[in-house]
This record gives sequence, structure tokens and C-alpha cells, in this order.
Amino acid sequence: MGAVILGTGSCLPERILSNHDLEKLVDTSDEWIRSRTGISERRISGEGEEAYRLATTAARNAMEMAGVEPSEIDLIIVATMSSHMTMPSCACFVQNELGADNAFAYDLNAACSGFLYSLDTASKHVLCDQEKTVLVIGAETLSSRINWKDRNTCILFGDGAGAVVMRYADTIRGVLASQLFSDGALWKLLHMHAAPSCNPAIDPPGNPGSHILMEGRDVFKYAVKAMESAVLQLLEKENINLDDIDLVIPHQANIRILNKLLSRLGVKQEKVFINVQKYGNTSAASIPIALDEANREGRLGEGDLLLICSFGGGFTWGAGLLRW
Ligand code: UT7
Repeated sequence: MGAVILGTGSCLPERILSNHDLEKLVDTSDEWIRSRTGISERRISGEGEEAYRLATTAARNAMEMAGVEPSEIDLIIVATMSSHMTMPSCACFVQNELGADNAFAYDLNAACSGFLYSLDTASKHVLCDQEKTVLVIGAETLSSRINWKDRNTCILFGDGAGAVVMRYADTIRGVLASQLFSDGALWKLLHMHAAPSCNPAIDPPGNPGSHILMEGRDVFKYAVKAMESAVLQLLEKENINLDDIDLVIPHQANIRILNKLLSRLGVKQEKVFINVQKYGNTSAASIPIALDEANREGRLGEGDLLLICSFGGGFTWGAGLLRW
């Protein structure tokens, strides 16, 4: 019995912001960015490209591949931390745009690990109620949450959305297992303020605004160790050897994090899907965008074992195993 992915889709904003464009905004260089992160360019959403709109297009593409109509969707989960509104959720906007009148919808915030967490949640919905068809989306417009004067962060992130349609099937395919973790004690190392959460004064002074703040070196260190440990625990629990994995799709944070992780695990480069050079770190959207590209490029055959892993603010991290 399996919670099977029937279709994948993605959507990227039109505007490309290259490293050379960033050289005009902050004291940086294309060479520095590429050598430290592997990123050459990223997409930036403009008018009409809010997270829910990117999410809706990604969802339509996934539904078209799956052959699923809006009326057949029972649940929409959107992993995001950059919706254009705090209330209603991004997922409710997507439901309305799609005309998915039979669905209930909610957002899930686990920062860059949001899609992995959402996939785990969605698979449990599907396994508990085998009639359910679920849309799982990762959608971010983090360009709206960046301090464009902070060269430590503005070079890293980009916008986009990816989606999958999931449904029960009596098969060995589907989401096999996940190992998820959080450590809230480390929140300060990677965080983003929202509006003030209490009201000591009507207009509190010193509100830092909604910008990502990060201790890059610490995040780097934790990310490698945490993802390595999650992957190893998951494989041990499922009694699966790394050699049996056909494709790894990691959260596209940064090429140096990924190279370090993969060399520690001993995974061969040709078994890894990487597109961070084109899109930067799109947070919760990075895995489903990469999954859609890998799928459409024919990198996934029926029965293949797929490993995904991620790390993000919270800290949140984990790994997931799917049989395609
Ligand atoms: O989903 C997880 C999200 N977060 C991440 O993936 C971030 C993880 N961290 C990293 O990838 C790396 O720490 C960064 C790419 C952010 C930074 O690379 P680093 O090798 O750790 O650089 P650093 O922070 O140690 O800074 C080295 C130098 C500093 O100058 P000084 O103090 O040595 O003179 C920085 O001020 O590089 C400077 N620097 C820059 N120079 C040119 C920092 N950002 C830039 C920049 N361009 N954009």
C-alpha cells in the first residue's frame, strides 16, 4: 500500500537576477558567489507572481500530468513562509484559484524543510483515508523577505514553486518513510521576524522588519551534520543500503553544503540532482522544483528509490525515502 506521486509540476518567476546584477547592489562578485555557493542566478517574483500564483501554476502542471481535475482534490498543503498574507493561508488562495471546491487547505511552515514535512503529513492523510487525493506544494517568494543590503543573505535566495499530486494505490510504490527533526533552541542562527507579536506600544521602535537573518558558518556546519545523520538513521531504520538509492534530491541550499554532505555519505555525483546554480535556495520550493525537473528529464524510472533530505530555519531537518 502506498501514497504515490501521480504528477509533478513547477513554476518559476520570469525575472532572472544574475550574480552580475547583484554586484550592482552589494559589495560582492560573481566569482565569490559562485565559488562559495554554486549559484549563478536566481528568479525574482514581480507583480502577479505572488507565492499563491506560482503555487497555483505549479499545481496545475502537476494535476495535468496526473490527469486529476480540481474537483478531485480533497486536501491542499502549501509549505511556505513567504505568503503575501498571514491570513488567509496561501493554501486557501490556491484552492480558490484552482476552483478545488471539495478540498480543505492549510499552510505548513517548517522553513526550508517545509516540503519534506508536508510530504510526510500528506502521505499519512492518504494512508489513513485511501479515498483522498492530495496536492502538496512548496512555494516561496523570499525575495520579499530579504534585506537587499545584506550581502550575507541576499545572494543566496530565490523564488519559485513546485507541486506534487498524491493518491493511494495498492502498490509497493510511494512514500516509504521519513525521519524528521527540529531543534528550536537554535532558532537564532537562521530566522526571520514577522510583525511584532505583542503590543507594548502601538508602534514599537526597533522592529527589525521581515528579513532573513543568518549566521552562515554555523548554519553550514549544522546543516551538513544534521542531514548526514538523518539520512543514515533513515536508511538504517528502513534497512536500505546507500548503493540501492537511484537518485538523491537534496534541498538546494548551496553547492558546498551539498558537496560536503555527499562526500561524507559517499554518494556519487551522478546520482544527485542539482539545480541550485539556476535558482539559488528557494527554501520549501527547492525539492519539489528539482523533483519536477528530474521527473520531466526522465531521471526517475518506475520502481526507482529516491532519497530526499533538507535542512532549514528552526532548525528543522530530515530525510525521506520514496519508491517512484
Ligand atoms: O537552507 C539553509 C540556508 N542557509 C544556507 O545555506 C547558508 C549556509 N552558509 C553558507 O553557505 C556560507 O556560510 C555562506 C555562503 C553564507 C558564506 O560563506 P563563508 O565561506 O562561510 O563566508 P563567511 O561568512 O565566513 O565570510 C568570509 C568573508 C567575510 O569577510 P572577512 O570578514 O573575511 O573580511 C565576509 O564579510 O566573506 C565576506 N562575505 C562576502 N564577500 C563577498 C560575505 N558575504 C559576501 C559576499 N560577497 N556576498
